[in-house]
Amino acid sequence: MTKAPPVNIAIFASGAGSNAKKIIDYFRNDSRIKVALIVSDQPNAGVLQIAREENLPILELQKERFFNGDAYLPEFIQFNISFIVLAGFMRKIPGKLIAAYTRKIVNIHPALLPGFGGKGMYGSRVHEAVLKAGEKESGITIHYVDEVYDKGEVIFQEKCKIEEGETADTLANKIHIIEHACYPEVIEKVILEQFI
Ligand code: GRF
Repeated sequence: MTKAPPVNIAIFASGAGSNAKKIIDYFRNDSRIKVALIVSDQPNAGVLQIAREENLPILELQKERFFNGDAYLPEFIQFNISFIVLAGFMRKIPGKLIAAYTRKIVNIHPALLPGFGGKGMYGSRVHEAVLKAGEKESGITIHYVDEVYDKGEVIFQEKCKIEEGETADTLANKIHIIEHACYPEVIEKVILEQFI
């Protein structure tokens, strides 16, 4: 019997790519799930350096074609991409891509949605807003992506306590650790449920 080909995933990132790196490491020797493409809208994003070191194919997005053209669907078909993982991707996902990958795109948000999400809520802004609101806890949310920012169905949440003297920086570090620990496993679980 021939072995089933792996489920190919594309990781979209605009920044440092520390989550992308954890996901690449996690699936490195997995015969069922393969990181097949790294996608970015930022030519200087750290994630592209990671992709080069890992010898992974890169797709650099041009805004015009992404939003007003074919949304790069031909490339995603060419790379046989079945699932898309957003890991710090700062742009909205065009309707064409959402239609082609319904319930096949996931995102990670560094707070407990539905609170502290939506347009403009990213990076340290999220943690500052959480602290300003006097919250006692924050955390991470992994959710499906639809047309509305941070509104898709929640798949997974993990909480952390906010300590006395917590700053946006200390909270960001805490949350990054939780993201790194949880995101690859949740991606694996969703893909196994959907495809394997
Ligand atoms: C993460 O905190 C994630 O929640 C948010 O963007 C950040 C990306 O960080 N969506 P990194 O580039 O993976 O380090």
